[in-house]
Amino acid sequence: MKPREIKDRVLWVGAVDWDRRLFDALIPLPDGTSYNAYLIEGSEKTVLVDTVDPGMAGTLMAHLSDVDNIDFVVSHHSEQDHSGTIPAVLDRYKDAKVITSPKGKGLLVEHLHIPGERIITVADEEPLSLGGKTLEFLHTPWVHWPETMITYLREDKILFSCDLFGSHLAASGLYADEDWRVCEAAKRYYAEVMMPFRSTIKKHLDRFDSYDIDIIAPSHGPIYKDPGCIIRSHKEWVSDYLANTVVIPYVSMHGSTELMVDHLTEILSEAGVRVERFNLTVADTGKMAMATVDAATIVMGSPTVLAGAHPLVVSAAFMVNALRPKLKFASIIGSCGWGGKMVDQLSGTLSGLKVDMLDPVIIQGKPKVKDYENLDRLASEIITRHGENNIF
Ligand code: FEO
Repeated sequence: MKPREIKDRVLWVGAVDWDRRLFDALIPLPDGTSYNAYLIEGSEKTVLVDTVDPGMAGTLMAHLSDVDNIDFVVSHHSEQDHSGTIPAVLDRYKDAKVITSPKGKGLLVEHLHIPGERIITVADEEPLSLGGKTLEFLHTPWVHWPETMITYLREDKILFSCDLFGSHLAASGLYADEDWRVCEAAKRYYAEVMMPFRSTIKKHLDRFDSYDIDIIAPSHGPIYKDPGCIIRSHKEWVSDYLANTVVIPYVSMHGSTELMVDHLTEILSEAGVRVERFNLTVADTGKMAMATVDAATIVMGSPTVLAGAHPLVVSAAFMVNALRPKLKFASIIGSCGWGGKMVDQLSGTLSGLKVDMLDPVIIQGKPKVKDYENLDRLASEIITRHGENNIF
């Protein structure tokens, strides 16, 4: 995609990464991503807002080939998908300075070896006039790293929102209303990247209410010309609302745990509880993360392998614990051959969640009548707890 004008003298100059399938060597990207950099030309100064992942430096530099001068590079975020091409930009534009938050300066020096004398730090809400265009820098720590900030362009009412409101979505169009996939991609992005920072994001969303925003231009995925919908979605995701949903990530080695999951699914579904189950041997863990955005309960299902849980279940539990969804209840089900410490291991792995742990159901071998009765009891407990908490 070539540079495109968003508003008069405001251009998208980023890069679309159609083929990237893993982010941070961790997060699945089924739809690729983009690194959105923006060029803002005032009558006196020219600013580049963020750069691109170093793997696509050539694309950004080609997009800037007709730009003779850049006065400032705004570095919202030191993570390399934003900042990794700053050294190349500074190399071409010898007088350019980097603008960032005080914490951002330290990280840029450490991570990218950018000389400190080429970095200017700005305070929260500090303005910068470019001549006819005024930037206002807003510190947004922990959205996603401690140094993160975003920029509001006052005259054009554009919020350059860095990772916030982003989506990992490679698209031929620049705008969200041109791509039906964006809603799911934005929720996946929130779940995989932003969910651990829910309470911080909540505060910032309230703060943005006092800004008149016509356009949201994030660092990843499409731009929002009508930002109401994406703001409302985020407000719902960070709210305390819980859905009457049970997420069941599981693995079954010889079929016993799967029979337990089948039974639990049936009983809960009959009672009107939505069940989202993920067989972790084939599941997209990004979808599992999305399911936890507003689910009330999680039940991990695992066989016992060498006295512990199946490694895929341990990995999923680790991920859920790290993403810190607003789950309220959790439990563990599974089968063992003769014994083991699977429950202790998974409970420990999930210990960062603020959940009530409901009695686990661990059976030996293939489920028997009493085992199904215990699963019925677990289902009944979940349904009762949801009801007591007005989760319908
Ligand atoms: Fe787009 Fe936190 O990186």
